[in-house]
Amino acid sequence: MPFDVSRVRAAYPALTDGYAYLDGAAGTQLPDRVIDAISAAYRAGLGNSGGAFPASRRADEITAGCRQAVADLTGGTPEGVILGPNMTTLTYRLAGTLAKDWAAGDEVVLSRLDHDANVRPWVQAALRCGAVVRWAEVDVSTGELPTDQYDELIGPRTRLVAVTAASNVLGTRPDVAAITAKARAVGAVSYIDGVHATPHGPVDMAALGADFYATSAYKWSGPHVGAVAADPGLLRTLRPDRLASQPDTGPERFERGTLPFADLAGLTAAADHLAALDDSATGSRRDRLLASMAAAERHEQQLFAVLIEGLASMRHVTTYGKPRNRAATAFFAVAGAAPAQAAARLAERKINVWNGHNYAWELTGALGIRDTGGAVRAGLVHYNDRSDVDRLLAAVADLADLDG
Ligand SMILES: Cc1ncc(COP(=O)(O)O)c(C=O)c1O
Repeated sequence: MPFDVSRVRAAYPALTDGYAYLDGAAGTQLPDRVIDAISAAYRAGLGNSGGAFPASRRADEITAGCRQAVADLTGGTPEGVILGPNMTTLTYRLAGTLAKDWAAGDEVVLSRLDHDANVRPWVQAALRCGAVVRWAEVDVSTGELPTDQYDELIGPRTRLVAVTAASNVLGTRPDVAAITAKARAVGAVSYIDGVHATPHGPVDMAALGADFYATSAYKWSGPHVGAVAADPGLLRTLRPDRLASQPDTGPERFERGTLPFADLAGLTAAADHLAALDDSATGSRRDRLLASMAAAERHEQQLFAVLIEGLASMRHVTTYGKPRNRAATAFFAVAGAAPAQAAARLAERKINVWNGHNYAWELTGALGIRDTGGAVRAGLVHYNDRSDVDRLLAAVADLADLDG
């Protein structure tokens, strides 16, 4: 069944403003059902967690439902879903916790493909306890993260391997399953950054071999909430800093203070929205999510082929990376225009794109563009359509006047 992008777009009130939203990699728009779920939670009355009265019980039910929604989306279990403000905050928290068990001379393996949120928390945690950071390098000509190098990088002292499931600028999807298998073979844990990968296709933590899988709902049509899914058994072995008065069981041990209950209701609605992208999908929400995200991926990939080939055919445009397995994200430079200038010209044409290093700090350093303004990023998500792509290509073609 063809992907009905018109039906999907009709769910998003913000998409009627005449802009081409190619900025989804930095945050997506919200469909009505998510906005309605957030407002319904407040309208019904919300109390804090753990009380005997209905408004409090509603908050607890929303939280439980949200953990289940993240589990359905990632293939995890609700008892292992930690909720928090965003991926960066949760990763700092988990880095501090995991590093309590590291000793001087232990090793952590990071990648230069990653967003800095899956790099710096580990670098700083390693520094504090004298652990050694080992780097997986990117092949800058292809944008690939070669898997073979992990045979050398991972060894008996490796305690953690952190790697992204998709680059937020090049879209590169490394062979995470192969990397986590090597980590597991030496007893190291894997921390997978799924923030960019989650909106672009089905996720199966078990198939990825991920001990931890981090995601952020605002990248997949939800509110600004982050989540990390992990094996509850593994979580029980960890000793997070927590208040004496805080629960000492379950994922709550890793959470701090009061959760944003209404936003958690929005997250659940976002998972329901994703599960309905393919309206012929049936079965459990997990089944429907797998089918719908596969349909969304096919839709994105078809459009992305047009977008990337169009950009690559322009003489005044340089595209970065050509990884084989790629989420629908383009990173490019326009001759004669700084990335910020190109993005500003596109904004004048009502086209939303990003420019700069986009927090891919190590990668833009390796590409040699971090200190010169980075590049322009245009990404597709399930609500983009052919007109968004055609408008971008026409507007970038017109930037040829800046060359020379
Ligand atoms: C791949 C990737 N990882 C991590 C992050 C950080 O996510 P958050 O804003 O939830 O901290 C982002 C945000 O852009 C991202 O794209």
